[in-house]
Amino acid sequence: MERTFIAIKPDGVQRGLVGNIITRFESKGFKLVGLKLMKVSRELAEQHYDVHKERPFFAGLVEFIISSPVVAMVWEGDGVVASARKLIGATNPLSAEPGTIRGDLGVSVGRNLIHGSDAIETAQREIALWFKEDELADWEPSMTSWLY
Ligand code: TYD
Repeated sequence: MERTFIAIKPDGVQRGLVGNIITRFESKGFKLVGLKLMKVSRELAEQHYDVHKERPFFAGLVEFIISSPVVAMVWEGDGVVASARKLIGATNPLSAEPGTIRGDLGVSVGRNLIHGSDAIETAQREIALWFKEDELADWEPSMTSWLY
């Protein structure tokens, strides 16, 4: 089954939106298989955003991600990578549709609350970067048979 990496960024944790955000993924029907609150090292933040290292916002983005704890998660389900991106909404919260996490809860691109992998290959790379294999739980929620 497909998996994606989701992180609630420091602004989401500081604003007390962890429960709100997790509820949206649970309510959609996705399965939580990994979850941890962590202070992110500079090395991990730089590796995670490596694709953006030449961009002008890179340094500020890394400082932001390491400034306060992040909630790192892995969610599983049919089409979860693309579906999570829809739940999250556009990068700039001012352009994100109402009903999405960024559209409902954010106003600034530099404080857009949440990260979600942008493709299946990216998700595999990010899950391996953030989680050890034994931190991911294999379990059967009893509601699965009512979803699929
Ligand atoms: P990106 O991967 O383009 O967006 P997304 O998070 O929607 O996949 O950018 C990574 C993060 O970098 C983004 O969530 C917020 C930050 N960022 C800025 O601060 N300024 C910018 O102009 C852009 C494009 C991104």
